[in-house]
Amino acid sequence: MGQTILVTGGAGFIGSNLVRFILENRPDDRVVNLDSLTYAGNLESLADFKDDPRHEFVHADIGDGEKLDEVMGRVDCVLHLAAESHVDRSIHDPSLFLRTNILGTQSLLDAVRRRGDSIGRFVYVSTDEVYGELPLDDKSQLFTESTPLKPNSPYAVSKTGGDMLARAYWHTYGMDVCITRCSNNFGAYQFPEKVIPLFVNKPIEGEQVPLYGDGSNIRDWLHVLYHCEAICRVLDDGVSGEAYNIGGNNERSNLELTKMLIELCGRDESAIKHVEDRLGHDMRYAIDATKIKRELGWEPTRSAWPAALEATVQWYKDNRDWSDRVRSGEYQRFYEQNYAK
Ligand code: NAD
Ligand code: DAU
Repeated sequence: MGQTILVTGGAGFIGSNLVRFILENRPDDRVVNLDSLTYAGNLESLADFKDDPRHEFVHADIGDGEKLDEVMGRVDCVLHLAAESHVDRSIHDPSLFLRTNILGTQSLLDAVRRRGDSIGRFVYVSTDEVYGELPLDDKSQLFTESTPLKPNSPYAVSKTGGDMLARAYWHTYGMDVCITRCSNNFGAYQFPEKVIPLFVNKPIEGEQVPLYGDGSNIRDWLHVLYHCEAICRVLDDGVSGEAYNIGGNNERSNLELTKMLIELCGRDESAIKHVEDRLGHDMRYAIDATKIKRELGWEPTRSAWPAALEATVQWYKDNRDWSDRVRSGEYQRFYEQNYAK
């Protein structure tokens, strides 16, 4: 039996890929896509689903309880992605992150709670950044679900607050809550402030890429469609109250990633500019995703690195107009032109 899935933040990078993934792969399901369209929300990413009767867009803030009450009456479960997501921005404006990512999550959880049993599962899409950082010199260390939470940036703290609050609503009120903690995503439709789209746009426009510090920091890169697949697996089969790590077994230093990107853009290493490091820059993230493999049978099944990275770079090359409209601000008119009555 199909269900109506509320996706919050469905106009963002992962959210828009997830909405597309559900509409293309789960023909019995409908999506209610709730997003306040901050600078990171871009409905052009879902332009081809604008008139799809299985896709309803709701322009609302997760902090707006009245609006949430209206929407909750027509959904069966919730995938909560809406958030402020950029670490660098959180360093300059922590309060916005705490408001959206903690209080916004509380507002959403309360709206679900007000509906009693009429809403099933609530999946909180958390991040590997809740665990803090790992050292560079001991590759045997990985984040597991029982690693203590020790977030370092205001962004990571705000996501940890949402993560723990979601679990507390399971523990206290008996709500059906699961949590996912994923590593760095890459793929189409990512806002060009994040490292991969930024480090594609700049070299193809003849500019240098601003690599923080010496580039030795390590991230575990996973294609966004793997993440979407895993979120749906947790929605369907996850055990209530549990957290699931999601990762790509794909650790790369920023310098290694940067060299690959500039080469794919036809540039040499003179395109790299070492700039001042990010404040409090986490050294290494690395995920142990054996629990979700063992218990839910999920592991990355699509094309692996470097093919998925090459395809992503090609997507940004082929879709320059999408990036150009984001950078000019033109994308923000799409909602007014196509949805606002
Ligand atoms: P994003 O910044 O691209 O998208 C966030 C979306 O949330 C935007 O559409 C924005 O308009 C919306 N939003 C923000 N505040 C809102 C509010 N108050 N009410 C309603 N909507 C609001 O982020 P992303 O990279 O797609 O990340 C999505 C989620 O996944 C986030 O919760 C993030 O913490 C988590 N996550 C991201 C990654 C990654 O690599 N990008 C990895 C792990 C987890
Ligand atoms: O690990 C999951 C997290 O991944 C998510 O929770 C966040 O929402 C998401 O933004 C991402 O966080 P990062 O900080 O890892 O992503 P970002 O693309 O901002 O940076 C990736 C790495 O690249 C990081 O080590 C910093 C570095 N970097 C980034 C930028 C924007 C640079 O060297 N130069 C840059 O200009």
